[in-house]
Amino acid sequence: MNVALHNNKPREQWASRTGFILAAMGSAVGLGNIWRFSYVAGESGGGAFLLIYLLCILIIGIPIIMAEFTIGRRSQQDVVGSFESLSSGGAWRYAGLLGVTAAFMILSFYAVISGWIMHYFIQYLNGSFWTAPAEGYEGYFVSFTGSFTQSILWHFLFMALVIIIVMLGVKKGIELSNKILMPLLGVLLIVLAGYSLTLGGAAEGLSFLFTPDWSAFSDPAVYLAAMGQAFFSLSLGMGTMITYGSYLSKKEQLPGAAFSVAGLDTGFAILAGVMIFPAVFAFGIDPSSGPGLVFMVLPDIFNNIAAGGIVGLGFFFLLAAAALSSAISILEVAVAFFMRKFDWSRIRAALVIGTIIFLIGIPSSLGFGPWAGVTIIGDNGILDSIDFIASNILLPLGGLIIALFVGWSWKTVDALRESDFGQTTIGYIWLFILRFIAPIAILLIFLSSIGLF
Ligand code: TRP
Repeated sequence: MNVALHNNKPREQWASRTGFILAAMGSAVGLGNIWRFSYVAGESGGGAFLLIYLLCILIIGIPIIMAEFTIGRRSQQDVVGSFESLSSGGAWRYAGLLGVTAAFMILSFYAVISGWIMHYFIQYLNGSFWTAPAEGYEGYFVSFTGSFTQSILWHFLFMALVIIIVMLGVKKGIELSNKILMPLLGVLLIVLAGYSLTLGGAAEGLSFLFTPDWSAFSDPAVYLAAMGQAFFSLSLGMGTMITYGSYLSKKEQLPGAAFSVAGLDTGFAILAGVMIFPAVFAFGIDPSSGPGLVFMVLPDIFNNIAAGGIVGLGFFFLLAAAALSSAISILEVAVAFFMRKFDWSRIRAALVIGTIIFLIGIPSSLGFGPWAGVTIIGDNGILDSIDFIASNILLPLGGLIIALFVGWSWKTVDALRESDFGQTTIGYIWLFILRFIAPIAILLIFLSSIGLF
């Protein structure tokens, strides 16, 4: 392992450039692309949402990934430490604390959903899902998530895995899994998207996803949902990419990495949409079914395929692996902070924080069972409400601060040099976006969604 000295402490680094890009991709590609993208797009009406989402990736997401990479590599520190060391005090470091808070919230419900994915994998492994259960796949989903013990058990197992891998260190395990399993998931998605188009719902599904309903453009909630999805899917706004950038040596070129991560992540989401929506219409499922959407639709797809049991097995295995590499990146944000701040060992930080996050996640899980009627924000249940606050508010807020930090508090020459853009046109465009476009876009979306204009 390469060792760089910072504050006299050796710091782990990625073994290679591909190791870093793969890890950043592994963080970005996860449940956000498949589970969250499908259900949020389904609830937000499809086409208009997709268009706004793509715009958010382009004018907010990519510039902010670059900003996060740049901050992390320059400071060689965790998210709070980055702001502290680069800003000589000031209020910037609250962005770091915001990030750590978001990490606790996001991983708490992410682990619940990932636990469901693991359970579905086991259902294919032991054959129970090879034929439809008596109550149908939809009925099964409702009774499984409604059972306190079942849901908590899988939630616990998933969190235990995340904790163990983070305890073992930065790159062991993550690099290998990303190198092999993520491409396999991509291939399987392409095949399944192609198959889904033959199920009879292709015309309706594709037009739902790709034909914007123009009236939706006047709905502020769609903008907020699309922006939140862009931040969530790219792992942005809470310092995941700062933390990963901090393990990177000065030799790497950041812009190429940022574009590859964003391109790949968006590709996965669109493919997932092409896989899910034709099937949604073919099987007569309501696209706005909420967080259960993919759990109801996917088994129906596999059930229609000859040897679909094997396909389902492979799919849920790969999706669980993708969820795992994303979850690791979220826990890593909090662990890196606590290790430095309180001088904790990696093992202790992973154990203590992982356990706390598991406990925080329990109410989200209960929201599908005994606490099913509980709503917090609007008619959102517990999981959706925590997701809403973290993804649609905290992450964009963190992103806003990150953009302003690099855009306004760094010297232009420093920002251009440290980002590897150098004094190029695209470098100046990047800074212009960080200074004006991205912050204004984020603020406008916030203000319009609280009805201020
Ligand atoms: N982007 C991941 C996904 O799509 C989830 C994730 C990892 C994340 N790190 C994050 C989301 C940081 C928000 C912030 O599944």
